[in-house]
Amino acid sequence: MTITNSIAFVTGANRGIGAAFVDALLDAGAARVYAAARQPISHADPRVIPITLDVTDAAAIKAAADKAGDVTLLINNAGALEGGDVFAAGAEALERQLAVNTLAPLRLAAAFAPALRRSKGAIVNILSVVALAPMPGLASYSASKAAAASLTGALRATLAADGVAVHGVFPGPVDTDMAAGIDLPKTSPVDVARAVLAGVEAGTADIFPDAFARQVEQGWFADPRAVALQFAA
Ligand SMILES: NC(=O)c1ccc[n+]([C@@H]2O[C@H](COP(=O)([O-])OP(=O)(O)OC[C@H]3O[C@@H](n4cnc5c(N)ncnc54)[C@H](OP(=O)(O)O)[C@@H]3O)[C@@H](O)[C@H]2O)c1
Repeated sequence: MTITNSIAFVTGANRGIGAAFVDALLDAGAARVYAAARQPISHADPRVIPITLDVTDAAAIKAAADKAGDVTLLINNAGALEGGDVFAAGAEALERQLAVNTLAPLRLAAAFAPALRRSKGAIVNILSVVALAPMPGLASYSASKAAAASLTGALRATLAADGVAVHGVFPGPVDTDMAAGIDLPKTSPVDVARAVLAGVEAGTADIFPDAFARQVEQGWFADPRAVALQFAA
């Protein structure tokens, strides 16, 4: 699909990669951008329509989809990260992150599927390289993203016959609040957003939008166990 004249719906649009998506979409000629956030944003561009949405609220998702019935591109960007090893983070932390990172993208995909089928549009699910193999210090976050990656593949197969493209995005560290405590080189959210939109336009199913991610991608295809061992270390 082309971004020019698209009508996008972005979750977590108030900061980080989500805010960068809003601007990248506008720069690329989107006709309208529904900018969904828990606290509604204001934006100088009249093409931006603020939507109040906590993605863990299933009724609010349905209401948002009813309001934005012309969407051609759904970007499931909102995410939550709680650090800690598998015991420290615990089951409750996993439940909280599953709610935001896994269940919400699925509910949003279901709610927007009728509009996306009509437009033969696309869904973008922002995952992470830790969806491929867990980082033990991000145990429950990794698990929630791995489950979201699995659902992304299932959605892709289910919606293919309707002409809806489903993209998984596997970024490495990105320079946002979420990665503030991560001591690794980080890509700017602006570059990530642009690379993702380029991947959507190119029809790339799984998008590795930065240098770190592409390195992991190469390692993963060569030897997945080596990547798992590297992340474990
Ligand atoms: N930064 C990285 O290194 C990195 C790497 C790989 C993947 N990712 C993924 O990229 C996506 C964007 O992350 P980011 O780096 O931009 O993080 P961020 O700066 O921490 O922003 C997270 C966004 O998600 C929103 N959010 C969290 N819980 C929500 C909820 N229940 N309902 C609605 N919105 C909610 C936040 O809204 P509030 O302002 O209301 O909290 C915020 O807009 C996430 O899916 C993340 O997992 C990030």
